[in-house]
Amino acid sequence: NRLLIYLNDILFKNLNNNNNNDDDFNRSKKLIKSAISDNDFMKNLEQFQIDEITDCMYPVEYAKGLFIIKEGDIGSAVYIIEEGTLEVTKGGRFLSKMGPQKMFGELAILYNCTRTATVKGLLFFLGCNFLSL
Ligand code: CMP
Repeated sequence: NRLLIYLNDILFKNLNNNNNNDDDFNRSKKLIKSAISDNDFMKNLEQFQIDEITDCMYPVEYAKGLFIIKEGDIGSAVYIIEEGTLEVTKGGRFLSKMGPQKMFGELAILYNCTRTATVKGLLFFLGCNFLSL
C-alpha cells in the first residue's frame, strides 16, 4: 500500500551509480530511456540530455492515493511510472489514465507554465527533478 517514486536529483547521482544491485539499476535505466523516447515532447532531446536525466534519477516512496501533481501549481519535476496506474484530471474532469513506462509532468517544465492537470498516484512510479540538473 505504498508508492515508490524515483526522483531526479544531481546530488544523488553518485548514490545511484554506486547501486550494488546491477539488475535493478539497469532495469531502471532501460525504463527511463524507454519512457523518454515514448514522450512526444521529450524524445527530441539530445542524447547527452537524456543520459543526464537518466543518470540522476533516484527512488522515493509516496503514500498511496497521494496527489502527485496539482493543476495550477508550479512544477519542478517530471515523473516516470514504474508500476501501477495514475489518473489525470482537469477542473475535476477525468482526462485519462496512465500506466507503466509513461512519463508525465513534462509540460510545466518544458513550457515554463503551471501544471496543466492534476495527477493522482496509485502504485509505483519513477520521477525526475529537473531543477537540480
Ligand atoms: P504538467 O502540465 O507538467 O503536469 C500535469 C501533467 O499531466 C502534464 O504535465 C502532462 O504530463 C499530463 N497531462 C496533461 N494533459 C493530459 C492529458 N490530456 N492526458 C494525459 N496526460 C496529460
